[in-house]
Amino acid sequence: MDTTDVPQLPRVSQDMRTNVCIVGAGIAGMTTAYQLARAGRAVIVIDDGPVGGGETGRTTAHLTAALDDRYYDIAKLHGEGGARLAAESHAAAIDRIESIASLEDIDCDFERLDGYLFLGGDSQKKELDKELKAAHRAGLSAVELLERAPLDFWDTGPALRFPRQAQFHPLKYLNGLARAIIRDGGQLFAFTHADKIEDGEPAKVTTSSGHVITADHVVVATNTPVNDWVILHTKQSAYRTFVIGARVPRGSVPRALYWDTPDPYHYIRLHEVDSRLDPDGSDEILIVGGEDHKTGQEDDAEARFKCLEDWTRERFPMVQSVDFKWSGQIMEPVDYMGFIGKNPGTDEHIYIATGDSGNGMTHGTIAGILLTDLILGRKNPWQGLYDPSRITLRATGDFLKENLNVAGQYADWATKGDVDSIDDIAPGSGAVVRRGMKKLAVFRDEQSNIHVRSAVCTHLYCIVDWNSIERTWDCPCHGSRFDPYGKVVNGPAITPLEEPEKQESQ
Ligand SMILES: Cc1cc2nc3c(=O)[nH]c(=O)nc-3n(C[C@H](O)[C@H](O)[C@H](O)COP(=O)(O)OP(=O)(O)OC[C@H]3O[C@@H](n4cnc5c(N)ncnc54)[C@H](O)[C@@H]3O)c2cc1C
Ligand code: FES
Repeated sequence: MDTTDVPQLPRVSQDMRTNVCIVGAGIAGMTTAYQLARAGRAVIVIDDGPVGGGETGRTTAHLTAALDDRYYDIAKLHGEGGARLAAESHAAAIDRIESIASLEDIDCDFERLDGYLFLGGDSQKKELDKELKAAHRAGLSAVELLERAPLDFWDTGPALRFPRQAQFHPLKYLNGLARAIIRDGGQLFAFTHADKIEDGEPAKVTTSSGHVITADHVVVATNTPVNDWVILHTKQSAYRTFVIGARVPRGSVPRALYWDTPDPYHYIRLHEVDSRLDPDGSDEILIVGGEDHKTGQEDDAEARFKCLEDWTRERFPMVQSVDFKWSGQIMEPVDYMGFIGKNPGTDEHIYIATGDSGNGMTHGTIAGILLTDLILGRKNPWQGLYDPSRITLRATGDFLKENLNVAGQYADWATKGDVDSIDDIAPGSGAVVRRGMKKLAVFRDEQSNIHVRSAVCTHLYCIVDWNSIERTWDCPCHGSRFDPYGKVVNGPAITPLEEPEKQESQ
């Protein structure tokens, strides 16, 4: 976000009709819009922030078929055929990004690189042996086992090399897609919140300013679906993940993608910075991420950034300063694969793309390819693997574990508040306060003005928690997040935290 600007776009200011309305201008929504506009369909994209203002602007943009979850685990749940389709679709997504960037002349720093998966924590070499065989069975025949990753300052121990992976600058890429969509007759709108999404002929998207976009089809590409209340949210969980950007001398770390094996794992790559951040061109930024936790269930981000920095300095002695720190949200599906296709249930014209894990750049691109095929009535071999209605019986254990965790969060209704009195809340911070039967989300701004909303999440009524570093109210159940004044930052909630009086009447 500090290294590129995104296009200024209008807000929706009238009712409109189109073939396909896409809600969400991240990589999934923009790739879908691009593919459909290329195929001659009229598209409208709306986003309640700027283009790429969601997780696509926070990503570390490793483009890889070396997935977060091991191929031997994917094969266990989806069969060897499923694992092959997973490998094929993610590799095809990298190729598609490369070909779009080339065709549309998008200067997005796309670069082919090798990826290295090495051991961390208690992991044993047999995990890599197993993964090597599983990757070969999945069709990634060029993957090989090396004695170590190619770093002369740190012996990583044995590592799998995944050749010809890639990285790019996600916002520069979205800028190029925006230009091409508009050229092909598509319309893009920013700062326009979808309040209601309804199936029908036509389907309808109603914005918070009351304008209605009618469309033959609607694609909900909001990272987590804001149209589905229950089904999808029992099949995936929201995690916060943390990243630092450390300055290192140019050329001191070999350019590649790196990951270790624990859960959560570390993810590492280099990033070019331009003269705005590096006037004499002598440095690069080493990006290191990890330290994930379930959204709304911890509030210790500073400690996590510190762990990341310590871990990095121990292994990369050339690190100078840590110039960037940020976090973002990851949706983890219980059976490892994204959910891309028709919305489960009775909807006929509503499509979704969600459940990306840490592979959302390729999942979002797969969504662009697959949803375009589904909307145009074309067959696609990946449809079954990504079908949002699928039930993966072998994932039942994880399904139960995640949903028991969610059920446990409702106990927060009965507990006392974070503080006994509003007076205990420092300027610039928030706390949940109990008032009789009610729980209130109270924020004291820097001028000591008090802002009070109901602490009840507007999705499925869990109690939100204060996130002190990001200054948001985070829901521990399905990952909804709200700004200090209650406005939605991340779904599945679609409406703001309520005024406390409304909570009384519930
Ligand atoms: C720190 C971090 C590192 C990551 N690293 C990698 C990586 O190395 N490689 C990789 O492949 N993936 C990675 N990921 C995952 C990847 O970034 C995401 O999965 C991907 O960006 C999701 O794209 P999306 O289009 O689905 O969602 P988003 O980019 O979040 O787009 C959704 C959009 O919908 C909009 N929206 C939401 N609700 C509404 C509404 N009601 N009305 C209107 N608009 C709405 C939002 O404003 C947002 O812009 C990472 C993620 C994070 C957070
Ligand atoms: S996100 Fe589902 S209850 Fe809050």
